[in-house]
Amino acid sequence: MQKPDLKEAQKRSKKKPKIITDFIIDENLINLGLSKKYFVKTYGCQMNEHDSEKIKAMLEKMNYQATSNMEEADVIVLNSCSIRENAHNKVFGMIGQLKKLKDKNEDLILVLCGCMAQEEIVVAKILEKYYWLDIVFGTHNINNFPNLLGQKIFAKKQQIEVFSKEGEIYEGLPIKRKFPHKAWVNIMLGCDKFCAYCIVPYTRGKQRSRKRKYILNEIKDLIANGCQEITLLGQNVNAYGKDLADNYYFADLLNDIGKLNMPRVRFMTNHPWDFNDEIIFAIQKNKNIMPHIHLPLQSGSDQVLQKMNRGYCQEEYIALYFKLKKAIPNICISTDIIVGFPTESEEDFQETLKVVNKCQFDYAFTFIYSKRVGTPAAKLEDKIPLAEKEKRLQKLNKYISSYALESNQRFKSKEVKVLVDGFSEKNKQVLTGYSEHMKRVNFYGAEELIGRIVLVKITDVKTWSLFGVLSDEWC
Ligand code: SAH
Ligand code: SF4
Ligand code: F3S
Repeated sequence: MQKPDLKEAQKRSKKKPKIITDFIIDENLINLGLSKKYFVKTYGCQMNEHDSEKIKAMLEKMNYQATSNMEEADVIVLNSCSIRENAHNKVFGMIGQLKKLKDKNEDLILVLCGCMAQEEIVVAKILEKYYWLDIVFGTHNINNFPNLLGQKIFAKKQQIEVFSKEGEIYEGLPIKRKFPHKAWVNIMLGCDKFCAYCIVPYTRGKQRSRKRKYILNEIKDLIANGCQEITLLGQNVNAYGKDLADNYYFADLLNDIGKLNMPRVRFMTNHPWDFNDEIIFAIQKNKNIMPHIHLPLQSGSDQVLQKMNRGYCQEEYIALYFKLKKAIPNICISTDIIVGFPTESEEDFQETLKVVNKCQFDYAFTFIYSKRVGTPAAKLEDKIPLAEKEKRLQKLNKYISSYALESNQRFKSKEVKVLVDGFSEKNKQVLTGYSEHMKRVNFYGAEELIGRIVLVKITDVKTWSLFGVLSDEWC
């Protein structure tokens, strides 16, 4: 049994991460899944979704088949997230429910992985209360999942293997992508920013940039397979390369990817701290880089930003915001905002509203601060009552949605290019996809358009989506 240790997880050294390229599934494990089914549920961010794509691919390499019905699965994997308390609660609620399935079928294998598995308090709780989980592994050893599964099945013993370390880089893990037409591409792992409220640097390890040859080869393969859009993933993509000693940074990577024949390139998430002019030039220059930037603000108050350890002040954020608006006309900028950080006064909150009113974001993800054990902010005294935090969130959301609607108005009667993802969940005749500006667009159309980029004329504008009609001319 290998349990997590938050103290170890926060250590950072100058050591270069090992690149491991020899992933292989033992031949004794290849047929483990014959006539068996798996179900994977993902709770976290795009990084977690992408990890789930690797877990699914490994299961399929062992001949397991996917099912969308959890009740008929032989292996159930919960890929968890630690970012806020409600993410925790959802997962524990699900583990509780799964006990009933386990009681009915003792051969059912229940797996917990992802960021929650990296937390000491979570593993302690599993050992004490949720003993029916069969396998727990963390974010640093996804590659070992097939072996853990084999050990569980052959030795019939609970497997807990979570490493708290800076981490390696695994190249060549199999991936079962959700869509053939769009893909996530990790460009870096981990995070060294240590924002005071955030658990990610502890659950994901040190910032490790992938070498350009692996990234570019992955993208070339995607192009060869007809992929239309990639999203470069990292907790802080603007810092790409700062941990490599080869003088090759995010702007260089964007310029190299810009030269490839990939119709759409996106990236997330950005941090204002490392957003330099070279990156802005690269976005301007490369026409396949999409005009959307997610630029988390977190707070508009200098006092709060400093306590959060964000590395910029209100003025610097606003200056960067308008520099981007000027450099890339019509760019869409979205953000993340936290209300109720322990030291946030009413005046601080007003500062956040001031920035929101000035920037008028295209959209925003807004959150109530959630205390994460082990982070520096957890030690701050939090005197703000929950009701007050909820009031601030509601007030903020009113502004956010009114600016979202306003920003969508600029597309009324315009033609936009949409990469079609599929039919809408709500209406099976309506196709849905995203425009270049990252606006969700719905329109009536035929199945054959899925995976293609089409022109849609916008006829109706809502707060969170656009509606239109297919133009005669396809791109
Ligand atoms: N690396 C990304 C963030 C990943 S987490 C970035 O820096 O932009 C996504 C968002 O969750 C953060 O931007 C933040 O707004 C929010 N978040 C993170 N920790 C939180 C916490 N403890 N409480 C509430 N929201 C949090
Ligand atoms: Fe968390 Fe900050 Fe790193 Fe984003 S940059 S993952 S908010 S520590
Ligand atoms: Fe959650 Fe881990 Fe992502 S905490 S937001 S799944 S990096």
